Amino acid sequence: MNFFLNIFKFLPPEYAHSISLNSLNFLYKLKLLSLFQIKKDDEVEFNLCGMNFKNKLGTAAGLDKNGDYIDALGELGFGFLEVGTVTPSPQSGNSKPRVFRNYEDNAIINRLGFNNKGIDYLLKNLKKRKYKGIVGVNIGANKTSKDDQRINDYLLCFEKIHEYADYITINISSPNTPDLRDLHNKENLKNLISSVENKSIEINFQKPIFLKISPDESDESIKMIIELVENSSFSGLVATNTTVNKDSITNEKLRNEEGGLSGQPLMEKSTNKISFIRSNTDMPIIGVGGVMSKNDFHTKIEAGANLVQIYTGFIIKGPKLINQIIRD
Ligand SMILES: Cc1cc2nc3c(=O)[nH]c(=O)nc-3n(C[C@H](O)[C@H](O)[C@H](O)COP(=O)(O)O)c2cc1C
Repeated sequence: MNFFLNIFKFLPPEYAHSISLNSLNFLYKLKLLSLFQIKKDDEVEFNLCGMNFKNKLGTAAGLDKNGDYIDALGELGFGFLEVGTVTPSPQSGNSKPRVFRNYEDNAIINRLGFNNKGIDYLLKNLKKRKYKGIVGVNIGANKTSKDDQRINDYLLCFEKIHEYADYITINISSPNTPDLRDLHNKENLKNLISSVENKSIEINFQKPIFLKISPDESDESIKMIIELVENSSFSGLVATNTTVNKDSITNEKLRNEEGGLSGQPLMEKSTNKISFIRSNTDMPIIGVGGVMSKNDFHTKIEAGANLVQIYTGFIIKGPKLINQIIRD
């Protein structure tokens, strides 16, 4: 496996991403993925917000935007998967290059801009999945949608996907869709939350709803967000998305690339946000940002995360990281 990871380092990141996930699908179809996933019998089931999990490690949004790899990723041993971000209409995202891997710092900078095949495509994949674990769907707005149309985009995705998602994450924190992060502002967020609540009453949606937030918000802003979420029917927070602050990366050229930074340099910042949220509320937290090892995973849990997601660690370290975290 290390041999392949080393080869992938020399390929353009998006190409490497697609080959590695398609290879996983191929191995899944040949029933060979059990080579990576060792023991199953020691898995602990636990419950959060009415959902049963085999373990606390899941994939973060963006890894499988269109739900093309649900069964293969599930077979690797993840306790849950979050697919998306999906938008109502398909969109191609920003121009390339738009993903930069930084192996010196175990980091990725991306400015993909919600490239995805649209909600109808994802829905088809969700309907035909064989994976029995929890699958959350992360929803967003199309780049061309503004103001109320943006809210309608969330509602449209919400309504279309609700029967086939085990939970739904409302993503307001991608730095790569212009002005999306303005939804962290009080009036905008209140409006978004109440629109989603009205929709969930209308369609009788009883499953958990999470809000995915940015690590670049101040403590004051996070307190305000906690208060709004606590006073709503939302279940909790996904903390956090990528950061736009790249001071912590050593490669000067990459530091000037626009986009969101993930991986090791985000670990401390996102964990601090989780600790801060936990010191203010008991609500469920899905912790994400910079997990590269079993130790990082436990640090997130100790900070107050109920579940943990990974993206960059999985890309850089490969599937063996899952076993190291869950089983070793
Ligand atoms: C290439 C790439 C694409 C991403 N796409 C999305 C996305 O579509 N929606 C989303 O909510 N987060 C997205 N993220 C953010 C991740 O879900 C996660 O919050 C962030 O990368 C921090 O976790 P990590 O350090 O384990 O990667 C993306 C991250 C990367 C690296």
